[in-house]
Amino acid sequence: MVREIVTYPAEVLTTPTQTVDVVDREIRDLINDMFETMYSAEGVGLAANQIGVPLKVMVIDTTPKEDAPDLKVVLINPEIVSAEGKVKYREGCLSFPGLTVEVERAEKVLVRALNEHGEQVDLELEGFPAIVFQHELDHLNGITFIDRLKGWRRRMALEKYRKLIREAKRQP
Ligand code: NI
Repeated sequence: MVREIVTYPAEVLTTPTQTVDVVDREIRDLINDMFETMYSAEGVGLAANQIGVPLKVMVIDTTPKEDAPDLKVVLINPEIVSAEGKVKYREGCLSFPGLTVEVERAEKVLVRALNEHGEQVDLELEGFPAIVFQHELDHLNGITFIDRLKGWRRRMALEKYRKLIREAKRQP
């Protein structure tokens, strides 16, 4: 089922999510809804709190983005084991419709998480998939991409976003 995507500044986006205790049928239903919702919005990643569910679950599928390596994965209770390098990329976010901002992130991350069967997985991500993962991990920690900006860059991004919202509201 396609769910409604929560947009900033909803509280569920700025509050850290909770650890999943048991990967059960309910979680797998949530995962299915998350994939459906992400595909219908043409996104490449989605965190559970973006559909209002405050749990540490994310889905990623970079396949539709042609110039990026393919990664399709479900990550539950994910954490970064190690990170290296730095890369800047202009990111979008389904919870900030129309806004893109340039964010600096680690180039390579080693990730540990549970998969949809509750099994531990270790993943080495690099480049675009690593960027998407770090963006979604931030969501799960109640951090949005504008929080990665400082000072006037953050203020300008917020001002631009408010303007986009005002313009969207004016549409019939
Ligand atoms: Ni996002």
